[in-house]
Amino acid sequence: MSNLPFPPPHSDAALHSQQLTSVIRQAIDQAGGAIPFADFMQHALYAPGLGYYSAGARKFGVGGDFVTAPEISPLFSQCLARQCQQIFTALPQGVIFELGAGSGIMAADLLKELANLNCLPSRYLILEVSAELQQRQQATLQAHVPQFCHLVHWLQSLPPQPLKGVILANEVLDALPVQRFCLEAQEVFEYYVSYDETQFIWQCLPTRNELLRTQVEQLRPILPIPYTSEIHLALPSWIQSIADCLETGLVLLIDYGFPSREYYHLQRHQGTLMCHYQHQAHTNPLILVGLQDITAHVNFTALADAAQTAGLHVAGYTTQANFLLACGLPALLSAYDYNDSHYLRLAQQAKMLILPSEMGELFKVMALTRNLEWPLLGFMRDERGRL
Ligand SMILES: C[S@@+](CC[C@H](N)C(=O)[O-])C[C@H]1O[C@@H](n2cnc3c(N)ncnc32)[C@H](O)[C@@H]1O
Repeated sequence: MSNLPFPPPHSDAALHSQQLTSVIRQAIDQAGGAIPFADFMQHALYAPGLGYYSAGARKFGVGGDFVTAPEISPLFSQCLARQCQQIFTALPQGVIFELGAGSGIMAADLLKELANLNCLPSRYLILEVSAELQQRQQATLQAHVPQFCHLVHWLQSLPPQPLKGVILANEVLDALPVQRFCLEAQEVFEYYVSYDETQFIWQCLPTRNELLRTQVEQLRPILPIPYTSEIHLALPSWIQSIADCLETGLVLLIDYGFPSREYYHLQRHQGTLMCHYQHQAHTNPLILVGLQDITAHVNFTALADAAQTAGLHVAGYTTQANFLLACGLPALLSAYDYNDSHYLRLAQQAKMLILPSEMGELFKVMALTRNLEWPLLGFMRDERGRL
């Protein structure tokens, strides 16, 4: 790893990466010399005890690899709390179920704000694939909201009974493994991963995956040749499993991405794969195995289609900026004295959340409902027409 344009990982991290590298090499050997990139991404992020999300590296905040909206500012969760409040007014014994709770700060800030609004959920369930992050979430909640810790329960799998309430996932979908394809004049190619003496290497081969071939062929009329991008083939089964958890209520999915037309834009001909390591973003997922996050943007049109097939109603789609503004971000800020240094700090954070050049436009919020009929607070500037 000595030629990387990053500070070299310390010895524990390098050892960890070597162990994961051996596991992936074995999988490649067993598959006859190459595995689809989606399988590589699954191993790199989720291999038990070794993957980026299943092992113990620090991921969030200043000492980690990236920063998420709830880490930037409590204003994010305070706005989210107002959207939850609207649901809990109709479902007084409602539950919150959060997928991939990161450091736990969103859960802590949400519970604090929902208590202020006098509409705490009856339970706050968390499904977190990383054992280390579960521990961090417990510590965060204990430090910030010890009085509400009795409401919080960690699940090892999806809830067995469908619930009434709100299901939340902020920046979880972008970590779902994706198939990476290249459309050529005569053929759909897929990126597989193999290895040589020193490193993992790409192999771009005619795909053996019929579903991938069919879906990419459907894109042919709108794509230039050659065109490389990603497809989340696992999305329909993921969203079906989430839909099965909801009896009545709202699923809010927040992530970076675009509608299909923009996702497969002419200018985005190298796709959307992105890796994050110590606050540097780059596009090579085959290095720093197990030490870096690997993500792909979300195709919100595909998400909406999958949600409808799973029996959910697509009730809203908008930008993060529109959502936060509609949920009362300006009013939250104006509660502070303009001369207060705390106000200045929050105003700075609000800019990061809503400016188009920061997170405001790239990040989208999608609302999926079951048995809820009324317009949702956060989607007054609804952009479902763009999907
Ligand atoms: C990019 S982080 C976002 C964390 C947090 N939601 C936030 O906004 O700060 C992704 C989170 O999703 C978790 N995760 C990834 N895949 C998951 C899955 N299939 N089910 C549940 N959690 C998952 C990770 O362990 C991590 O906590």
